[in-house]
Amino acid sequence: MLVGPLLIGMPEMRQSSLVVVANRLPIDDSMAPDGACEWRRSPGGLVNALHPLLRHTPATWVGWAGGTGLAPTLPDVDGVRMHTVPLNADDLRDHYEGFANATLWPLYHDSVEQPVHRRGWWEAYQRVNQRFAEAAAAVAEPGGAVWVQDYHLQLVPGLLRTLRPDLRIGFFLHVPFPPPELFMQLPRRAELLRGMLGADLIGFQRAQAAHNFAQLVAKVLELPATDRRIGVADRVVRIGAFPVSIDTAEMAALAARPDVAARARRLRQDLGEPEHVILSVDRMDYTKGIEQRLKAYSELIAGGHVKVRDTVLVQVAVPSRERVGQYQILRDRVEREVGRINGEFGRVGEPAIHYLTQPFDRAELAALYGVADVMAVTPLRDGMNLVAKEYVAARVDETGALLLSEFAGSAAELSQAYLVNPHDLEGLKKGVSTSGCSVWTASGTWQLVHQAEAC
Ligand code: ADP
Ligand code: F6P
Repeated sequence: MLVGPLLIGMPEMRQSSLVVVANRLPIDDSMAPDGACEWRRSPGGLVNALHPLLRHTPATWVGWAGGTGLAPTLPDVDGVRMHTVPLNADDLRDHYEGFANATLWPLYHDSVEQPVHRRGWWEAYQRVNQRFAEAAAAVAEPGGAVWVQDYHLQLVPGLLRTLRPDLRIGFFLHVPFPPPELFMQLPRRAELLRGMLGADLIGFQRAQAAHNFAQLVAKVLELPATDRRIGVADRVVRIGAFPVSIDTAEMAALAARPDVAARARRLRQDLGEPEHVILSVDRMDYTKGIEQRLKAYSELIAGGHVKVRDTVLVQVAVPSRERVGQYQILRDRVEREVGRINGEFGRVGEPAIHYLTQPFDRAELAALYGVADVMAVTPLRDGMNLVAKEYVAARVDETGALLLSEFAGSAAELSQAYLVNPHDLEGLKKGVSTSGCSVWTASGTWQLVHQAEAC
């Protein structure tokens, strides 16, 4: 079974004029209830941003298919060829879970968790990047374009340029690029910058990230750099902000489907016909601010500002990177807190929080967005956050309120959202922001009102 509208065709080994290289393929293997292997859409924003762009393009996607066995031969997905790169158990531990997700990920997200530095992980990072570069070099047509994605593969542009100088190479970073004082902590900072500079064009989510990168290149590599162009030997590398998005028309059409609208109505009934539904949809990640949000919600209930019967919080938190220690600790803490809040404030048949960890298909997600009066997207730091854009696109009747962290990349574009600082608990509770604030009225209902009226 596939989650999401992916059409599967037969595999073909050919070279392509466009090659996308990402740590993950758009599908990965997961275990069916009967123990059989099944393919489903990979989790996360990268796949949901790229998949609509590439659909029915004669491109090849180079990536990992999940698991640590031999690289499986996969069929095309919506006309895009799948080229699998194998990772063994050491690669998984030291490259994906280690250098990518325990060193770079926390460092690039403001060090909201302490980055871990292990010398052995760097070797694995180099080895796996070399493997991806060789795979891309093998499937790219002469003079073709290769588009490398994200922090797992920062060395690939440089390695690929050495292997195939005929190619045009792009690199896009889906996560924030940190300010110099944080990036400078990395023992291998020069190599990482040089690797990215193998590209002809480097894209970031926000202009600030391009600025940080230019500053670092000038400081660490002593190259001439502005926020748009960097001089490297006999080449010019262009840099800039190109924020990713979703297929808004697709999401709007899905939300408008009669069966999805009916499902949203049914969900409201199942939730006990509350006056207000607040929804959050996250990967289970410490960058997403889930704990802070739960604390704020719990204090609002305890303070009598919200009544559980009138208002429900639906928290979807799909597990992610489950073997990384920081993620295991987070999940334990979130589940303990949800249990505590429900135990303390819920009643039989009336939990304060509806907590769901399952992956949903796109129609079910659209129905959830449809039932949500308020969407709370409050990460401590996020490259973009496509969930916020999906909510706006799904509200085809133009109702609803988006409570959005100032530290999500999408805050730069969704300026009419109610912006909040998720580090400020009181601020989070009141929803105070530059553009608006949310207040709990004496009757216990949550009204989102403009700052001019409320503050
Ligand atoms: P990130 O890339 O950090 O995961 P984003 O908000 O940019 O964060 O993207 C998350 C993507 O994953 C969105 O497209 C969202 O629809 C999808 N998603 C999140 N939770 C689920 C879930 N439970 N089931 C299916 N898709 C999900
Ligand atoms: O947005 C950052 C990112 O790493 C993406 O590459 C991916 O879509 C998402 O987070 C999910 O992460 P993972 O591939 O580790 O499950």
